[in-house]
Amino acid sequence: MERTLIIIKPDGVRRKLVDKIVQRYERAGLKVITLKKMKATPQLLKKHYSAHVGKEFYKALEKFMSSEVVAFVLEGNNAVKQARAITGATDPSKAERGTVRGDFGIDSAEKADKEKRAIENLVHASGTKEEAEKEIGLWFPGLKK
Ligand code: CMP
Repeated sequence: MERTLIIIKPDGVRRKLVDKIVQRYERAGLKVITLKKMKATPQLLKKHYSAHVGKEFYKALEKFMSSEVVAFVLEGNNAVKQARAITGATDPSKAERGTVRGDFGIDSAEKADKEKRAIENLVHASGTKEEAEKEIGLWFPGLKK
């Protein structure tokens, strides 16, 4: 069994999409093993987004991600790959229909870049098994392996 981390970002929480989004993953057979609503500290975000610290959009990304989010761990066969497929492409305006970002997303990378802010794309999903392990450790440090 594999695990992955999903974070419903502040735009998803504000738009009251938490239940609908969680159901998208559950209906594919992935199981929520823990879930919490929380506010991330700048330190946690720097660790989580270590690959993006220093990029042009990082400051805006940190600011955006500092409001309330819902983080959860999913478990199931091929959880990382499955969850990424359900999530859809980073830019919601290009994400396929049937994906979380394609169906619920209202932002675009072009608009976000023009307005010098982070792309509001509703969810984060770990990219690889290694990232998932690292990210689960950061967001759920007490979780048994
Ligand atoms: P996420 O999957 O959480 O990983 C990094 C996040 O940075 C991404 O989703 C977007 O919210 C944001 N992001 C990525 N690329 C850009 C960009 N070019 N401009 C603004 N925000 C971005």
